Amino acid sequence: MNDGRDFRGRARSGGRVDRHRFPPENAALPFSERTAMQRVFSGIQPTGIPTLGNYLGAVRNWVKLQEDHDCIYCVVDLHAITMTHDPKTLAQATREMAAALIAAGIDPTRSTLFHQSAVSAHLRLAWIFECVVRLGWLNRMTQFKDKAGKDRENFSAGLYTYPALMAADILAYHATRVPVGDDQRQHLELANDIAQKFNFDFCAGETFFPLIEPLILGPAARVMSLRDGTKKMSKSDPSDQSRINLTDDADTIALKIRRAKTDPEPLPSDTAGLEGRPEARNLIGIYAALTDTDHASVLREHGGRGFGDYKKILADLLVAKLEPIAEEMRRLLGDAATIDAILRDGAGRAEAIAEPIVREAEKRVGFLRV
Ligand code: AMP
Ligand code: TRP
Repeated sequence: MNDGRDFRGRARSGGRVDRHRFPPENAALPFSERTAMQRVFSGIQPTGIPTLGNYLGAVRNWVKLQEDHDCIYCVVDLHAITMTHDPKTLAQATREMAAALIAAGIDPTRSTLFHQSAVSAHLRLAWIFECVVRLGWLNRMTQFKDKAGKDRENFSAGLYTYPALMAADILAYHATRVPVGDDQRQHLELANDIAQKFNFDFCAGETFFPLIEPLILGPAARVMSLRDGTKKMSKSDPSDQSRINLTDDADTIALKIRRAKTDPEPLPSDTAGLEGRPEARNLIGIYAALTDTDHASVLREHGGRGFGDYKKILADLLVAKLEPIAEEMRRLLGDAATIDAILRDGAGRAEAIAEPIVREAEKRVGFLRV
């Protein structure tokens, strides 16, 4: 290798590969239509009702990004079958997730909203990426280790190669910005490694696949379980008490917050006082995200309060923010045909972007065209 690049295609002279040879933000459009808008891609699995963690860590940021980005949002049903799932409920869960996203503020006329299995380009690129990614890279993925634990022999190969499909989701659109919660950081680093190895192996180092910038935003990029401040809040946690679902009614929200695990001390007045108090930090972070502030200013306002008092205030705020979303979601679900039409339209638009990019990737790998 004497072209000044290492095996992952990074320039050896200390910098990254030249991002400007193939402008990533515009690459999917015909030259005549290229604009300055950066493309955003993100996904969510239809594996249950979205939680407050999904909302604060991801979806709320997706809504904001619509203002000045070309946004593509995907209900990732292909990822949802990497764990044991119920085939009788997957289609409805996919529809419900789409309804939740629209209810939360994703505007399907502005953003492209679709479900992953409707666009086969994801799978074609995922296969190529499975042949680019190295086993050693996949072995480092902490999400696989967390999900499979000591029983990895009994989990699907799909769960193991999951990050290659995720990289394909993003790169099939030449998206450059990916808003996610903190738990997805490692997957995005891997996606960049895959992109760079592809560029190095098949594009002579040209930036065909752009580098991705993770957008891990806000004071609630990792919302923790209400029962255990050291565990992530998750749709699939066996305990419903551990999470707030976007469909919970006011009484349920109030009860879950009242029962949330805390410690006996009152709230501190500065962030140093949150050290070693994960449950307090979590409840402060949730409030900060909902009010668009940060931990410090919430503590300036509420420092010194006991949890009994603070929990009431937090529950009221949660109800005020989440109830309109739950109501809109119920309304939308009364009209499944409209949701399906939105997803069909989104899939058509997504396919039109992904198809030429994935075809070009296939060409660069060297497949015969007849
Ligand atoms: P998933 O539910 O795994 O499909 O995640 C969808 C999005 O929500 C991803 O961007 C996750 O990083 C984000 N997310 C999931 N759980 C949490 C959480 N507890 N806190 C913050 N973000 C989360
Ligand atoms: N793996 C992500 C999660 O569980 C979901 C996902 C799939 C995703 N494909 C993606 C997120 C592409 C961002 C971009 O949260």
